[in-house]
Amino acid sequence: MAQGYSAAYASWQADPETFWAEAAKDIDWDRPWDKVFDPDRGVYGHWFAGAMCNTCHNCLDRHVAAGRGDQPAIIYDSPMTGQVQTFTYAELTDQVAVLAGVLAEKGIGKGDRVIVYMPMIPQAAMAMLACARLGAVHSVVFGGFAASELATRIDDAQPKAILTASCGLEPGRTVAYKPLLDEAIELSVHKPQTCLVFQRPELEASLVDGRDHDWTAMTDAAAAAGKRAECVSVAATDPLYVLYTSGTTGIPKGVVRDNGGHMVALKWTMPNIYDTEAGDVYWAASDVGWVVGHSYIVYAPLLNGSTTILFEGKPVGTPDAGTFWRVIRDHGVKVLFTAPTAFRAIKKEDPDAEHLGRYDIGCLKALFLAGERADPDTIQWAEEKLKVPVIDHWWQTETGWAIAANPMGLELMPVKHGSPAVPMPGYDVQILDEAHNPVGAGTMGSICIKLPLPPGCLPTLWNNDARFRQSYLEEFPGYYMTADAGYCDEDGYLYIMARTDDIINVAGHRLSTGGMEEVLAAHPDVAECAVIGIADKLKGQVPCGFAVLKSGVTRETAEIEKEIVSLVREKIGPVAAFKLVLTVPRLPKTRSGKILRGTMRAIADGDDYKMPATIDDPVILDEITGALKSRGLAAGG
Ligand code: COA
Ligand code: AMP
Repeated sequence: MAQGYSAAYASWQADPETFWAEAAKDIDWDRPWDKVFDPDRGVYGHWFAGAMCNTCHNCLDRHVAAGRGDQPAIIYDSPMTGQVQTFTYAELTDQVAVLAGVLAEKGIGKGDRVIVYMPMIPQAAMAMLACARLGAVHSVVFGGFAASELATRIDDAQPKAILTASCGLEPGRTVAYKPLLDEAIELSVHKPQTCLVFQRPELEASLVDGRDHDWTAMTDAAAAAGKRAECVSVAATDPLYVLYTSGTTGIPKGVVRDNGGHMVALKWTMPNIYDTEAGDVYWAASDVGWVVGHSYIVYAPLLNGSTTILFEGKPVGTPDAGTFWRVIRDHGVKVLFTAPTAFRAIKKEDPDAEHLGRYDIGCLKALFLAGERADPDTIQWAEEKLKVPVIDHWWQTETGWAIAANPMGLELMPVKHGSPAVPMPGYDVQILDEAHNPVGAGTMGSICIKLPLPPGCLPTLWNNDARFRQSYLEEFPGYYMTADAGYCDEDGYLYIMARTDDIINVAGHRLSTGGMEEVLAAHPDVAECAVIGIADKLKGQVPCGFAVLKSGVTRETAEIEKEIVSLVREKIGPVAAFKLVLTVPRLPKTRSGKILRGTMRAIADGDDYKMPATIDDPVILDEITGALKSRGLAAGG
């Protein structure tokens, strides 16, 4: 492998197939590929076509065979329950093989879908790996989503089985998962055959006869009977998982990840981007329900033979703003990866980082941030307090790994606050104008990636090539459209400034305002509505709804607003963090009827804005400003 960023990027540019074939040597293959890249397969081509492999083997069995059996694979650290539990590679391999055996006995095999709806407990990672072992396709649904969101995913993925736990633990609140699951299955058209329920002592769930099974009873019995499933060889191009992410409508997009390319790309990132070797301790403080959790709590660290931390807690309040430092010290964490919002939360609670004085975190070598724009203030604070490089990097659920980063393993390049640095090998990033032409340095445009996407990125959307083409490929022919807007500077550093669609990022969680608008519109008293993301000091953005009531509605607006807030929590889930809705007489629109959401957002954030030339009635903007000011918003507007 070439040394240094420029050399690595140039070697990829010169010959992408040789570059990735070289990286693929770090993976065990059951059968080699016919072609490193086959442009004639799939929507834009497939990586490692013809090869056979198994992701679970590469994450677990092969490390045991290579002598890493006694090394911790997963350390579960839960300030929520006071538990710390270590699973060595040998123990994890055994437990995953047993769980896979249980699933196989329930008829789960290659290509079958399995939904995993679980809190941050080690069994969630075991569930994912057990599916991978069998060649079954897992689809993890984040625990903060409501029953109807889960139902939508059940209907799209059509799972044979659902793996869940009796409850999740949020500060001050036990989240009963099982009633949410039961309600989702009630709502969905497709019905799973089997549900496996991991009973947590904090709240036991009642099981439905015939369909539900007690996880521990099943795995204990299988282990006692010596039943373990072996790894099933799958095509490199077969799906490993489907992860639903917010799209431009209320219907989420099922991002597909394949087996072969995914392993090659993630394995490459560990030494080259994160400077993490086998045996090092790596901690992604995220949730397995998000892509960061898939890639960097589970797959990449295990593919790399590293130790991964699975943390059930929050950066603050569990029990205090020193939790992160405690975990780093206790487990010897070398690299921490989290969302900027976690550091904003710590900084808010402990601005002078006094908690840090209680812990020696000399083992920490770098902090990586992603999931939302990292504001320079937060980066600076973290740099000052932690005294390690703080590296912003940019990626999406769709890509599965960083599009742009400061590749510490290859070379730590100068850090520029506000920029996730430079494109990684594999990504030919172009900033395009509306006429599809590249713009010069410093000019904003649509950020696009020239096709093909590198290994590890989505080959398509689940059962929906048409939506994949329409959402990502059609607007800029020959490119993948990231739906992020930004610019590149003279040194080739990227700056990611805004989304070009309705996606907002709330505490690093990706949400669709379009999806929220669908919920608002369903309220019987609402005639028209809009939801925008407004700036928030802690969460980056929070949603703000505007509702125009039907004529003749005479009920108290405060009561209706409360109902709307509850409705979004019920339909989308608490993770939407939807707490603010304003009843207004009218919405500002263009003469052709398009709601001016961008202008409303500028008013709410106190940014300068130009009166849109096509506005229907400018007075409405004053009404919006007034409504926002009545809630203490639109300070500069
Ligand atoms: N299951 C059930 N509910 C959940 C949940 C889960 N897995 N995760 C979050 N929620 C709930 C929260 O309890 C909260 O409910 P509330 O309205 O009753 O308080 C709501 O969803 C909003 O959650 P969140 O936006 O995370 O806010 P928070 O106040 O609980 O925590 C932070 C704020 C900043 C501490 C937290 O978001 C955080 O640690 N973020 C950084 C790490 C991260 O997860 N990044 C994402 C991908 S990299
Ligand atoms: P998700 O799919 O949840 O990972 O969200 C992806 C989106 O989050 C991107 O398209 C960006 O809009 C935003 N995002 C992620 N990382 C960054 C970053 N480092 N800087 C700016 N925006 C980011």
